[in-house]
Amino acid sequence: MAIRTIRKEKDPCLYKKCREVTSFDERLSQLIDDMFDTMYDADGVGLAAPQVGVLRRVVVIDVGGPEGENAPVEMVNPHILESSGTQGGMEGCLSFPGKSGYVERPNHVKVEACDRHGDLYEYEGEGLFARAVFHECDHLDGKVYLPLVKEPPADFKPEQEE
Ligand code: NI
Repeated sequence: MAIRTIRKEKDPCLYKKCREVTSFDERLSQLIDDMFDTMYDADGVGLAAPQVGVLRRVVVIDVGGPEGENAPVEMVNPHILESSGTQGGMEGCLSFPGKSGYVERPNHVKVEACDRHGDLYEYEGEGLFARAVFHECDHLDGKVYLPLVKEPPADFKPEQEE
């Protein structure tokens, strides 16, 4: 168990496309354990490997609560299979502390990904889980959420912070 340093703001690791994982070894397992520790320590609901300086396609997500049927989940080489609907909500990122903004995402997602052993699973979810999947998968392509921030609609009422 180890907490790794979260890369912030202008760190180049946040803006690079990550490579697929090809070795499902002890090192990957350690990375995933450390990513969970780092995410929980920072009170986050998701974390992508480039946020800890590793340019590989790995994310961890734990949205907890009533929407957390799938949680916690580790996704290695995730591929989004389907998305539908739209949701608007406040979004933040552990790499940009103190910031948040209104972002629209699909409301529903179906994604396939390997676990640390290389076994392939499918996950399906809505709301915050879907938002987390899109946010974290964007990280693997070197994309952060800030360019997606827009003005919320006039009738938008921010619920709790994500
Ligand atoms: Ni993020």
